[in-house]
Amino acid sequence: MEPLMHENRVFHPPEDFVKGAAIPGMEAYNKLCAEAEKDYEGFWGRLAKENIYWKKPFTKVLDESKPPFYKWFEDGLTNASYNCLDVNIQKGNGAKKAIIFEADDGTVTEATYQDLLDRVCKMANALRKMGIKSGDRVIIYMSMSIEGIVAMQACARIGATHSVVFGGFSAKSLQERIVDVGAVAVITADEQLRGGKALPLKVIVDEALALGECEKVKNVIVYKRTGGNIPMTAGRDSWMHDVVANESTSCEPEWVSAEHPLFVLYTSGSTGKPKGVQHSTGGYLLWAILTMKWTFDIKPSDIFWCTADIGWVTGHSYITYGPLAVGCTEIVFEGVPTYPNAGRFWDMIAKHQATIFYTAPTAIRSLIKAASGDESIHPKNYDLSSLRLLGSVGEPINPEAWMWYYEHVGGSRCPIADTFWQTETGGHMISPMPGATPMIPGSCTLPLPGIMAAIVDEAGHDVPNGSGGILVVKRPWPSMIRTIWNDADRFVKSYFPEELGGTLYLAGDGAIRNKDTGYFTITGRIDDVLNVSGHRMGTMEIESCLVANPLVAEAAVVGRPDDMTGEAICAFVVLKGGRPTGDEAKKIATELRNWVGKEIGPIAKPKDVRFGDNLPKTRSGKIMRRLLRVIAKGEEVTQDTSTLENPAILDQLKQSL
Ligand code: PRX
Repeated sequence: MEPLMHENRVFHPPEDFVKGAAIPGMEAYNKLCAEAEKDYEGFWGRLAKENIYWKKPFTKVLDESKPPFYKWFEDGLTNASYNCLDVNIQKGNGAKKAIIFEADDGTVTEATYQDLLDRVCKMANALRKMGIKSGDRVIIYMSMSIEGIVAMQACARIGATHSVVFGGFSAKSLQERIVDVGAVAVITADEQLRGGKALPLKVIVDEALALGECEKVKNVIVYKRTGGNIPMTAGRDSWMHDVVANESTSCEPEWVSAEHPLFVLYTSGSTGKPKGVQHSTGGYLLWAILTMKWTFDIKPSDIFWCTADIGWVTGHSYITYGPLAVGCTEIVFEGVPTYPNAGRFWDMIAKHQATIFYTAPTAIRSLIKAASGDESIHPKNYDLSSLRLLGSVGEPINPEAWMWYYEHVGGSRCPIADTFWQTETGGHMISPMPGATPMIPGSCTLPLPGIMAAIVDEAGHDVPNGSGGILVVKRPWPSMIRTIWNDADRFVKSYFPEELGGTLYLAGDGAIRNKDTGYFTITGRIDDVLNVSGHRMGTMEIESCLVANPLVAEAAVVGRPDDMTGEAICAFVVLKGGRPTGDEAKKIATELRNWVGKEIGPIAKPKDVRFGDNLPKTRSGKIMRRLLRVIAKGEEVTQDTSTLENPAILDQLKQSL
């Protein structure tokens, strides 16, 4: 943390950027913040009226009668897909490119707003024909494709709640989500292509459904991506191109309450079970739109590129909904940043003339490394002059990576929006406004207008700037999580804990505000959640997976800092058969890594696996994770170990494989 606190380089938004910006200068930013402070409901009500098409206008902005189950614009009727597609076509943008899709192999396909509406309507009609109706849940297990976006929008059109599962999750993870959300259908593809390789999707769906408790799933719809050989179950499975073939290109949207659940997206928490974060329609969409305007300063002429996957919240807000709702042209990319070489992003920016580029620090760091080893794929060899704004998301961006991104990708001309937010927040919470906020590398700077972010101590009291604490949000905001699907209790306990007084939203991150500027710097999670390459992983989730392996007696998982991935997963394992050594230990470590890959998904595989006869525990039997964290880092244990039952275990665990 130290170097960050002393970071004093300041980068001001370029003058010509400020001139045309949605929020031109700090005065304009402060004015919006003051409007929200003065009349919170008036502020949000005005914005909701100005930015969303309401079939029936709302009469009440915010209902706080049952905290923390807040309701926004509840009696207003709207539809997310209508706002993204029909509204833009009515504005005369039917022939405008909505999506430029670049496949893994470089093939480019485009869809206009009219094409997209036609395809969404056909799909929506097909879903309705299968009996899928408003309120039903549909699982989407697909990779990046126009069809994936069409599937999400088609669900939204008929009021079905989608739950997208990232294509890297295992059959078991998929099945757990299908069961928890009570899905009636699964939309998938035969296979996905990544880095020139075909990887399975449909067979994993088959495997998931065979694991049981999925009787509610009556339909599996399969997009033919690769033409790979896959089994189809008669009566249940159908090809996407067949089911839409004879459907009409018009489909009356289901007009839903603003509070209608648009989607449920599973994310990791501090227990073994992922939580289904439930989002609304109206409030969520409003914030997707406003953040496109404020954080990304979106203009009709922009070519916007967010490199996330639709399996994560970033792909929901800044691929499927935000960019389309504001009527811009966006790039959608199927592949990986390193294929066919690590110049792929730069090549695509130049080829498609991207103006706004939004990616994760982990990608930037890996491309810095690649460019240092191979000059030919350094961004300086590509014409990146179309860019005018950069964004970063998912984890803290270290000042070195920020500087490289700023200088080599943005040509020292593009502001960087370091956007702090979460699956639960629906959209950006803290970020520079690119035409206003002076930027300091490594700081996400200030909350967006209307977002009452603050730092408190463990009793919920404000701490002065300069002292670190717990990041909270003091007032509800439109795009906040509504509940955890099927688990309202867990929702209240996780996000509005009694200890903080029950009304503050607990983000789960630590933060500190600069004494002079008031800028926020996120210091990392304060719970048992790890951030590996911008992917959120629960340590308990990996632990319960490890102990489910027949060889394992006990396991503890902690994170350690990693230059490339931000954090790396480190597992300490006690085997039933005693501590293995040498080749045997290596073999079992590989076996356990693969087990986690198979049970949860490759992103959850521990980088380090260490074996001990036991784990460091207090006399009351509690695993001392703080000691494990020190050992995982490779540092000397200097803490007091007097409460430890078996201090000798520490030396054993220090021995790495
Ligand atoms: O720890 C914070 C980190 O990512 C967590 C949220 O992860 P997830 O729900 O998967 O959403 C990721 C995409 C929005 C946060 O609790 N995080 C996200 N963005 C930043 C960040 N940490 C520091 N700086 C950021 N810009």
